[in-house]
Amino acid sequence: MFSPTGLSGPKPEQYGQLLAQARALVEGERDRVANAANLSALVYHALPQLNWVGFYFFDGTELVVGPFQGLPACVRIPLSKGVCGAAARTRTTQRVADVNAFAGHIACDSASRSELVVPLYDDDDELIGVFDIDSPIPDRFDADDQAGLEAVAACFVDACAAATPA
Ligand code: SME
Repeated sequence: MFSPTGLSGPKPEQYGQLLAQARALVEGERDRVANAANLSALVYHALPQLNWVGFYFFDGTELVVGPFQGLPACVRIPLSKGVCGAAARTRTTQRVADVNAFAGHIACDSASRSELVVPLYDDDDELIGVFDIDSPIPDRFDADDQAGLEAVAACFVDACAAATPA
């Protein structure tokens, strides 16, 4: 049984604790859906002021919604669209302080005001998908949040990599 333990201390330390919890959750498990589901739930419940946390997986053409926490979301996102598409296309984390000022933002949940989307690439540089974290608070994510959530995303990618024999 998973017992949530509150995060404490300065933000980088809190993310260190979150990463340790994330690693413990995926340890010994290679299933992509299982790990995405548990990491979404972990982050959604551990961090304040979030309304959506989840994964989109690349199906070879576009991004398709995967495990998440929050309201039902858009199912398919072309790489040419949205913050998620921009992260996947540019291979760069998108930290958007005001989603309404982002051209092409896809409003799945009208409550979302800011978001952070981390692209997920495997060891062969193939696109796996994106890790998407939304907040109802404008400018919710700072550089510490970005570094911490990128580390959680890397933890997910590492767990997936273990699923693919060389
Ligand atoms: N806002 C995202 C779409 C996904 S939802 O936030 C769950 C975007 O513009 O890519």
